[in-house]
Amino acid sequence: MILGILKETKDERRVAMLPESVAALIKMNVSVIVENDAGLSAFASNADYESAGAKMDTKENVIQKSEVLVKINPPTDAEKELMTEGKVFLAVLNPYFNTDLVKDLAAKNITSFSLDVIPRTSRAQAMDILSSMATVAGYKAVLTAANTLPKFFPMFMTAAGTITPAKVLILGAGVAGLQAIATSRKLGAVVEVFDVRAAVKEEVTGIGGKFIEVEGASDDKAAGGYAVEQSEEFKQKQAQAIHDHAVKSDVVICTAQIPGKKAPLLLRKATVEAMKSGSVIIDIAASTGGNCEVTKNNETIVHNGVTVIGNSFLAVDMPSDASKMFGKNVINFLKLIITKEGNLNLNWEDDIVKGTAVTHNKEIVHERVRSVVAGSKY
Ligand code: NAI
Repeated sequence: MILGILKETKDERRVAMLPESVAALIKMNVSVIVENDAGLSAFASNADYESAGAKMDTKENVIQKSEVLVKINPPTDAEKELMTEGKVFLAVLNPYFNTDLVKDLAAKNITSFSLDVIPRTSRAQAMDILSSMATVAGYKAVLTAANTLPKFFPMFMTAAGTITPAKVLILGAGVAGLQAIATSRKLGAVVEVFDVRAAVKEEVTGIGGKFIEVEGASDDKAAGGYAVEQSEEFKQKQAQAIHDHAVKSDVVICTAQIPGKKAPLLLRKATVEAMKSGSVIIDIAASTGGNCEVTKNNETIVHNGVTVIGNSFLAVDMPSDASKMFGKNVINFLKLIITKEGNLNLNWEDDIVKGTAVTHNKEIVHERVRSVVAGSKY
């Protein structure tokens, strides 16, 4: 089987698979073709790919010759045009939002797998690109905050007096939030944390964060480890509690998300206006609306003396390790659909293969995506 790795578009610095992942594929008896210059922005040259056993080629040839195509971002219009019936396409399709793309892929009879909808089971952990990218984003969010804050993170006792540690408030303790807690603690900050999932309290306290509880959160075991939407009454109580802690904080890191929905609004404009001048908010939920009312996606603004950075793509700024983790996750997924001899075998009996597939045989095969595309609530 031939697998093709596509080059991302210009603002994306990661690549779906580095040469080390190519070497792993070759060992799996898969032939690999890589689009020219695909790895340059992640510091992998064409020669590095060739040494790992890949052939370099143009986009047109990579798409035409490959049975399976791998990319990070959804296909561009040009790539969609070039893809013929029956190709298998793996990427992060963001299918709950990119519904027209899903319809197009189905109509073109492309079998698509969206790596962001991989089921959250123990077996799927090694393939979970959301966890990998959230790890990078949580880490980078703290470094960005520390770099922007006009103060130290750690406490210092110096001849020029005592410096008190920075106070960091983290909204959402999923993978990104937990990494942000750990990184903030390593830099010496005092960390407070909000989450609606009570299950995460122990993890937060275990890595040195203080968990702030708001009574009455809805938690749904059926949501597969994810948060669910909260009642109006809870939202108001939570907004007040967040307000009280945010006004005393130097940094707020927003990571709260509800899969497939707009991010919950947790930090009101009035709260930002009551925060100390010079404080920093990093909103990594910006692309789905943000947790902060004044966030502007992909922009850094200063609101009443508070710097608000809306950036959900922090992983792009650490292209080497982000690509390394992404590639490793993809390899682990590919092992489910490639035989020992290196042939494609779409095993629909496997819950991970089935749960990650979005389109197949001209149909939208992912139930939740199908209901979103049909405009129904889920
Ligand atoms: P996420 O990115 O969907 O959400 C981030 C955090 O925001 C979550 O902890 C969520 O509870 C929180 N949140 C949502 N609404 C909120 C609100 N109104 N107020 C405060 N916090 C709110 O979550 P992520 O990082 O993708 O992971 C969520 C959980 O999924 C993990 O902690 C873990 O239990 C599970 N998981 C399981 C995996 C597996 O088994 N393969 C892999 C990764 C995660």
